[in-house]
Amino acid sequence: MPTDDFNNPESDNIPRHIAIIMDGNGRWAQKRFMPRAVGHQAGVKAVRKIVEYCAKQKVEVLTLFAFSSENWRRPEAEVSLLMALFMATLQREINKLDRNNIRLRFIGDRTAFSDKLQEKMAEGEAQTQDNTALTVVVAANYGGHWDMCQAFQKVADKIATGELKNQSISEQLINEHLSTAGLPDPDLFIRTGGEQRVSNFMLWQLAYTELYFTPTLWPDFDQNSLEDAIKSFKSRQRRFGHTSEQVLNKSVTQ
Ligand code: IPE
Ligand code: IPE
Ligand code: MG
Repeated sequence: MPTDDFNNPESDNIPRHIAIIMDGNGRWAQKRFMPRAVGHQAGVKAVRKIVEYCAKQKVEVLTLFAFSSENWRRPEAEVSLLMALFMATLQREINKLDRNNIRLRFIGDRTAFSDKLQEKMAEGEAQTQDNTALTVVVAANYGGHWDMCQAFQKVADKIATGELKNQSISEQLINEHLSTAGLPDPDLFIRTGGEQRVSNFMLWQLAYTELYFTPTLWPDFDQNSLEDAIKSFKSRQRRFGHTSEQVLNKSVTQ
């Protein structure tokens, strides 16, 4: 059971890890009678501002859902556009992230991407791996089901070779084999664009995350919108199964 931060003692603390489903790019463009591509481009600008803000606020981890394992089902032209935009954004932003001491990490099945894109992703991770400010995790070809499957596969392989025993399977062991190994679970989940669903995002890791849904379309999501989400987060009492009184009295040791 989680005991590390159950008391949430500094209630004015901002979340350590914010995870965002950046949804609504297409509708943002359609509202303006423009192609969906324009919405995705506007979405990248919103990413830049949110990253800057999180770095300034000393958020530790910002996870951004950029492309889901289901998004391959979109028309080929949109998928190609998204891949090109992903590549161009990495080419333009890696040095800037590095200069700002930001660490970049990717989660998801990257083998489906082109060799060039995979190389750029690896380069971005290597170049920024020692940075100590914000960690930006980009979820690309990511799915919560995929994440659990790949973790179970790794564990099963280790059991087959005798490195692990069946009995060693624990929540911690699973955590250590998920793509998010070493990162704290998200404290705050935000989904823009009005839909109230998780769409196969971080299914294991969201177990005790505070959920926030907003109708704001992703390209319109700015610093003020994020402040509203953080304000909502701060107003909540995280109980992790305890009673409200226990939390208030801080009677359970951490
Ligand atoms: C989110 O915006 C971006 C990706 C999924 C890549 P959408 O493209 O889903 O925008 P809507 O939901 O169609 O408005
Ligand atoms: C979720 O958005 C994935 C990303 C934002 C990358 P979608 O727009 O693909 O989600 P659904 O299909 O509406 O659930
Ligand atoms: Mg969508």
